[in-house]
Formats: sequence, structure tokens, C-alpha cells
Amino acid sequence: MQKVFGRIFGEHESCEKFFAPGRVNLIGEHTDHEGGYVFPCAITFGINAIVAKNNLGKLRLYSMNMDGNFDTPFEIRYGEIENLDANSISKFERSWVKYPLSVAKILLGSNCGFDYGLDVLYSGNLPDGAGLSSSAAIEVLTGKILTDMFHLNIDGVTLAKISQQAEHFVGVKCGIMDQFAVSMSRKNHAILLDCANLNYEYVPLKLADCKIVITNSNVAHSLVSSEYNLRREQCEAALQDLQKVVKIENLCDLNEQDFAKFSGVIRDPDCLRRARHAVTENARALKAAEELRCGNLGEFGKLMNASHVSLRDDYQVTVPELDALAEFAWGTSGVIGSRITGGGFGGCTVSIVRENCVEKFVNIIGEAYEKKFNRRADFYVLETEDGAKKI
Ligand code: GLA
Repeated sequence: MQKVFGRIFGEHESCEKFFAPGRVNLIGEHTDHEGGYVFPCAITFGINAIVAKNNLGKLRLYSMNMDGNFDTPFEIRYGEIENLDANSISKFERSWVKYPLSVAKILLGSNCGFDYGLDVLYSGNLPDGAGLSSSAAIEVLTGKILTDMFHLNIDGVTLAKISQQAEHFVGVKCGIMDQFAVSMSRKNHAILLDCANLNYEYVPLKLADCKIVITNSNVAHSLVSSEYNLRREQCEAALQDLQKVVKIENLCDLNEQDFAKFSGVIRDPDCLRRARHAVTENARALKAAEELRCGNLGEFGKLMNASHVSLRDDYQVTVPELDALAEFAWGTSGVIGSRITGGGFGGCTVSIVRENCVEKFVNIIGEAYEKKFNRRADFYVLETEDGAKKI
């Protein structure tokens, strides 16, 4: 990577290095935008950056993953960043720069008068379109770089919020989970995050004789932005109906009993299903964290399975490949639980598997999947990571 840096940006006297991880969510899916609980952890796959100052007054960016056809970096003067709008930002030939530029715009605002520029080289190993938060990783990473290099006094939670705003700016009305996990995670722990108020707690990942296995369906979740925003609108419509009869701010303010009592007022059946998912998933996430704390992995696994069913039938964000991966896992011995993870419409499942069964799990499911879909699945045994950092 250092060599490429020299080739693209020329030699520099000193460089800094940064890293931001991807994330996997163990349970609590599509609850973050409804003021509920999520339970993610950061993974060792992520994005590295090498950074140096330049005296051009420009932000110069190059991605080893995306810019193979270019010999020179993307460059922009600080003064121009402030004036970027959603339209102009989406028009750059190298479309990935919209993520770092949105962060720079929000973070630096009109204070772009720094007397030195920055050269940034990115290189990541997060599988493409796998739903492991590559966009949150590059957002938070860029935020970390800018705050460090310009000595801005911004903490990890604020950085997560700014990165979420950047994602909204480029078009997906996501919740805070991904950016929060990428920014704030702690190795060997998952974060139980209450998205209504951003209170959070690190829960040790006590897995006894089990491992967490991520299975990539290799179905890229490309449809996700329009469908994602549609799901949010449906939840919003359900909330508005409910607010006529009960005083709540978010769908996840309702427990399951109250939901059963009031949900008759939700007029549209699709909206009713979306809301039911949010309420039941929120209860599952909270319960699952408690079960993990008590070492009840079996119960944790059952909640994961129920989460998948709810995402399939009520929230309707699974695809046949992901349903099959979960079902294969449920039928394989040594599997404690398995579910789709992330926004949906492709991406990965996350499974808890007894360590001595992992090899069998990979072989059996890999073979069944390939036979059914004529497509390969990839498997990664989870290693957790800390949130974004300077290295
Ligand atoms: C995407 C979004 C998150 C969250 C998940 C679903 O990853 O970015 O905010 O809503 O989907 O849980």
C-alpha cells in the first residue's frame, strides 16, 4: 500500500495510518430507525488508509479498490467542498468519492480554510455489496482522518452521527447502527445500543465452545436504497396511525402487549407487518443481549431464528438465497441459530455454530447452496475488532 501511495501522490516525509472496521449485526435488525435496540459488533475486515499533508490546499483521494483505471487521484479544493450539493456530489465519475466528500462537507463546513491539504489512499478488504457496512466504514474512517489531521475535538458518538448524516446526504435514510458500530465498537464485545437515546453498553461475547460464522450469499444488495427508504416510509405511516390512539414517539416505544392492543388502527396491511417486525424485533434484541450476558446461547440462537422469520415474513427484506442459507443452517447439527444480517435484499447470514462443527457447516451448506443456486457462498469465522482508530 505504501508503494502505491508513493506512485499516486509522490513521496512524502511522513504519513499517518488509520483503520475502520466493517460490522455485523447479531440481532435487532431494522429497529435502529424506529428508536429500538441493535446489537452489532465490528469485524476485522475493514478499510485502511494512509494519509499525508500536501501543500496544494486540496483534498486528494484515491481508492485501491475502485480506482484501478486511474493513475491520478481524485482532487478537490477545500473551498469547493462546502458548495457541494446532493446533485453535484452524485455526478462525479468516481462515484465512491461521494462518501468521503459528504463527511468532509458536514465536518468541515465553512471552516475549510486550512493551510494544508490532505492526500488519502484507501484500501479495503470488505467483500463488495455484502452488507457489512463498507459505506459506514469509509465515512467514519474519513471522519477520523479529518478530525485527527485537523485537530478537531470530536468524539466517537458525534463522529457516528456525522457519518450517518453523510449517508442521508447521499440518499439512504439509514439509522445510526452501522456508523455507531464502526466508530464505537470494542474487540470481543457486542454493543447493545438504544437508538432512541444512544445509550449503549458493551456486552462481552461469551461464546463458550461456539464461533460466529458469517456466510456471504454473494448476492449483492444493490436494490437496497429504494426498498430501504420505502420500508421506513411504511413504518412512519404505521406510527402516524398509532399516534392517534397512543402517545409514542417511535414504534419501538411500544411493547408487544401494547402493540397487540393498538395495532388494529394501522390501516395498511403492509404497514402493519412492518410495524409488527419492529416491535417484536426490538423485544428480541433486548432479550438476546440478556441471554448472552447469562451465557444462554441456546436461547440466543432461538431468537436469531425468530428474527430471520420476522424479516422474511413481516419486514420482507430477505431473498430466496438468504432464506435458503438460514434454512440449511437450521437443519445442520451444531448450529445454535442463524439469520440474515444487515439491511437485506442480499448480503450475509450470521450463524452461531459449535466450534467442532464449523468445518462440517461450511462444507454442507456450501455444497447445498451451490447446488441450489449455482452460486458460491463464502464463509468467514468472525473475529471482532475495535472501532475506527489511528494505527
Ligand atoms: C442498514 C442501515 C442500518 C440498519 C440496517 C438494518 O445497514 O444502514 O441503519 O437500519 O440496515 O438493521
